[in-house]
Amino acid sequence: MEKTKHVSVMLGEVIEMMALEQGMTVVDATLGGGGYTREIYKRIMPGGMLVACDQDAQAITRFQEHYPDIVRDIHLVHSNYSHIRTVLKECGIDSVDSIVADLGVSSDQIGETDRGFSFSSDSVIDMRMDQSSDVSAYHIVNELSEKELADVIFTYGDERFSRRIARAVCAKRPITSTKVLAEIVAEAIPAARKRTMKVHPATKTFQAIRIAVNDEYTHLKTFLTEGIDVLQRRGTFVVVSFHSGEDRLVKNIFRAHARGCMCDERLPVCCCGHVPTVDVVTKKAMTPSEEEIAHNPRSRSARLRCVVKK
Ligand SMILES: C[S@@+](CC[C@H](N)C(=O)[O-])C[C@H]1O[C@@H](n2cnc3c(N)ncnc32)[C@H](O)[C@@H]1O
Repeated sequence: MEKTKHVSVMLGEVIEMMALEQGMTVVDATLGGGGYTREIYKRIMPGGMLVACDQDAQAITRFQEHYPDIVRDIHLVHSNYSHIRTVLKECGIDSVDSIVADLGVSSDQIGETDRGFSFSSDSVIDMRMDQSSDVSAYHIVNELSEKELADVIFTYGDERFSRRIARAVCAKRPITSTKVLAEIVAEAIPAARKRTMKVHPATKTFQAIRIAVNDEYTHLKTFLTEGIDVLQRRGTFVVVSFHSGEDRLVKNIFRAHARGCMCDERLPVCCCGHVPTVDVVTKKAMTPSEEEIAHNPRSRSARLRCVVKK
């Protein structure tokens, strides 16, 4: 397997916010190309414990092939980060000093033509990060009802033309190729709107389908809550997200844990009795520098948020 093509995003800021020290116990929940893992390793070893996990088996295999010296000293786990508690238990770890997650897909996944994440090269419609999962983009595109598909595109893609797109897709089923899907989506969007777009017209729809295929928000919610639970006192939790829906979810869950009360905001009094468990370090999300964006345009939408356990 080739070396990773992924360029880590906001690496300096992430490492600084994690406040790493030699001997710490740390989780990198999204190994990807291993850029964060390698930097964390340098800072906490010798004496530290590092768990690096990814739901994509190819990311694990690539790291094993290219960094055998590091692999010997860390727990490299093929798992969804929503299982963080079980993963740690299996590694014999009760609590950790720091957790980091760099959400979404890696450049390796986007670049692999048979994975179906991208429309820049033609491929089968797949988009599964965990290739052992039963649900692929083929199912979402070809088997949901028109209304369900429109809801996915609207909710996860913030796409105002979701109904038109869903209607156009359903009329052309079955669709098997990413290029064909991208063309159908682009044709469904009014020309006047397309003229003002800076990205390909199918970008939001592809993002929405990917989120649905990997059930990303459900896993993220569980991971954030369980992650806060397994942090030691003064432990740091750093998350880098790449689109507004994801960042909103991270912000709201971190804020809810800082506030304590988990009740529905419409309730006049608290019924849950939860106490605050974290302090929010980043009142406003951190963003990459102009220099980083110029060097790695993929970083432009990154948002970094951090909490510290009370
Ligand atoms: C942006 S990349 C991480 C890049 C990494 N920080 C680096 O510097 O090379 C995101 C990785 O997270 C993985 N991932 C996404 N959602 C996941 C989840 N729910 N559980 C485990 N891994 C996940 C993806 O498979 C992908 O490899």
